[in-house]
Amino acid sequence: MSLAGRTYAIAGAGGALGPHVAWALLAAGANVALADRDQELLEGVVGTLPSDRVRSDAVDLLDPAESVRWCEAVTRRFGAVDGLLHLVGGWRGGTPLAEAPDDDWLVMHDLAIRTTQHTSRAFREQLAAAGPRGRFLLVSSLQAQAPGGRSAAYAAAKAAAETWTLALADDLKGTGATANVVVVNALVTPEQKEASPEKAFKTFQDVRDVAATLTFLCTDPARTMSGQRVVLAGAH
Ligand SMILES: NC(=O)c1ccc[n+]([C@@H]2O[C@H](COP(=O)([O-])OP(=O)(O)OC[C@H]3O[C@@H](n4cnc5c(N)ncnc54)[C@H](OP(=O)(O)O)[C@@H]3O)[C@@H](O)[C@H]2O)c1
Repeated sequence: MSLAGRTYAIAGAGGALGPHVAWALLAAGANVALADRDQELLEGVVGTLPSDRVRSDAVDLLDPAESVRWCEAVTRRFGAVDGLLHLVGGWRGGTPLAEAPDDDWLVMHDLAIRTTQHTSRAFREQLAAAGPRGRFLLVSSLQAQAPGGRSAAYAAAKAAAETWTLALADDLKGTGATANVVVVNALVTPEQKEASPEKAFKTFQDVRDVAATLTFLCTDPARTMSGQRVVLAGAH
C-alpha cells in the first residue's frame, strides 16, 4: 500500500527501531523527518537510507519550543505532516521498588511522558489538518499493563504515555486523524540476531516486523482504528 506524497515525523529516530521505521516508510513512498538528540547519530542513520526524501533535525524533545520548531521546519520542507511516530526510549530500573531512587522516576517521566506531551501538542494541528491520513503512533511496552516490581518507574511512565495517547485519540475525534499505541515486549535487531545465532529470541519483536506494523497503521485501511493498543506479543 502506497504512502507516496505523505510525510511522517519520527521522534527518537536514532535508536534501535528508528532506522527500520524510516526504511519501511521510505519503501512505501513516504517522506520522513527524523529527530533525535544527536545530529551526528542522525547523519549516520541518514547515510544508510536509500532515498533523499529525508530530513533530519537534532531536537531535544524535552523542550516544548524545540518540538514546535521541529514541526514547523518539517512542514516547511514537505508542505504538511501526516503522522508523528513516537519512538523515544530509554530505561531506568533494576532495583526493588522500595529502594529505587527517585531519580529513576524523574528520568522515566521525562523520557516517556514529557516527550509524548510535547510531540503530540506540537504536531496536533498538522495531524488534524491531515484528516483521515493523520496518525499519532506511540511505541510502548508490555510493562505498562503488566509491570515488574523492579521496573516500577519505567512501567508507570509508559502507562502514562499510553493514557496520554488514548486521550489524544479522543481529542482528535471529528478530525479524522487517529492515535494508537503499539506494544512490544523486547526489540531485537538483525545485527543482534546475527551476533547470537544460537539464541531463539522467541519473546522478542524483530524491529523490521514492528516497522512493518507501524507502516501498515499509517495506510488507509487502518483509518477507522483509533484509541487502540496493538500488542505484538503473546505468541510465546
Ligand atoms: N528496546 C526494547 O527492547 C524496547 C522494549 C519495550 C519498548 N520499547 C520502546 O520502543 C521504542 C523504540 O525503542 P528503541 O530501543 O529504538 O529506543 P531507544 O534507542 O531507547 O530511544 C530512541 C532514541 O530516543 C532518543 N531520545 C531520548 N530522549 C530524547 C529527547 N529528549 N529528545 C530527542 N531524542 C531523545 C534516544 O537518544 P539517547 O540514546 O541519547 O537517549 C534514542 O536515540 C521506545 O519507545 C521504547 O521505549 C523498546
